[in-house]
Amino acid sequence: MDLKTALAQAAAEVERVVDALIPTSDLPEARLFASMRYAVLGGGKRLRPFLVLSAGALFDVPRERALRAGAAIEMIHSYSLVHDDLPAMDDSDLRRGRPTTHIQYDEATAILAGDALLTQAFEVLADPATHPDPEVRCRLTTALARAAGPLGMVGGQQLDLIAETTRFDLDTTSRLQRMKTGDMIAVSVEAGALLGGASDEETAVLRAYAHDIGLAFQIVDDLLDVEGDEAEMGKSLRRDEAAGKATFVSLLGIEGARSRAEELRKRAVDRLDRFGDRAEALRAVADFIVTRRN
Ligand code: IPE
Ligand code: IPE
Ligand code: MG
Ligand code: MG
Ligand code: MG
Repeated sequence: MDLKTALAQAAAEVERVVDALIPTSDLPEARLFASMRYAVLGGGKRLRPFLVLSAGALFDVPRERALRAGAAIEMIHSYSLVHDDLPAMDDSDLRRGRPTTHIQYDEATAILAGDALLTQAFEVLADPATHPDPEVRCRLTTALARAAGPLGMVGGQQLDLIAETTRFDLDTTSRLQRMKTGDMIAVSVEAGALLGGASDEETAVLRAYAHDIGLAFQIVDDLLDVEGDEAEMGKSLRRDEAAGKATFVSLLGIEGARSRAEELRKRAVDRLDRFGDRAEALRAVADFIVTRRN
């Protein structure tokens, strides 16, 4: 199966799981549930759930378990986009080819939709349906909280705000990007390994792979912010330079950033040798990350 088909299939499956998880009701607060659905469903590459599934497949993780972990990660990722797009943050009005959640609903509802997606994600992980062993569930929960929290994504978003007014060097910019984007990508791969009872050594290899593709992913996001097509990308672009952000493009130039992404792709793929043919999907994802147009 080619990557495009596999990604589309995984996207449909994870959307089914997310849709079933988010509450439905005709109570007055159903507006919150509708805005949560709007924020997560309809668009999005579902790359992170695909990584959970592909890493899990190396260890024969039952698909429904990987899908639940993938759904939880996608809920957190989607919350982060809703908040990232708010007027107080990047002030973007287009996301996944549609008006952002605060435009479609209102700012207060968008904030609550994000809060609710973040919180519910942990309920999903802590449920025995995700894994029968409470220790595995606890490790998953800790890993995701770490990746999404102050030492991971949210901390990276804070650094990103500071980068609007402070010129960071390459080391700090790399740390910023790793926290902001890389850690959520890394935890997706790690979740597959955790669900599958991978050895410490296997987990370390997968973590190193994920670390490389995570950084490559954000470098390409920065390149696409400059070079991408807004309709194809389905989100507001040319935000970074306008905000004066230190990105890989502002630091290395377009060609420098592109070759850095390519180096990371190659290193990531080489790390997978020990998994042989079974890691084909993970290799294909690394290629997709550096060649994607959206
Ligand atoms: C966009 O992530 C935000 C970043 C972390 C750079 P994606 O490019 O994975 O967005 P979706 O989920 O496909 O919309
Ligand atoms: C946001 O990074 C990453 C998050 C943690 C949400 P960007 O601000 O570059 O993401 P886009 O370009 O709006 O998708
Ligand atoms: Mg941002
Ligand atoms: Mg943004
Ligand atoms: Mg961006």
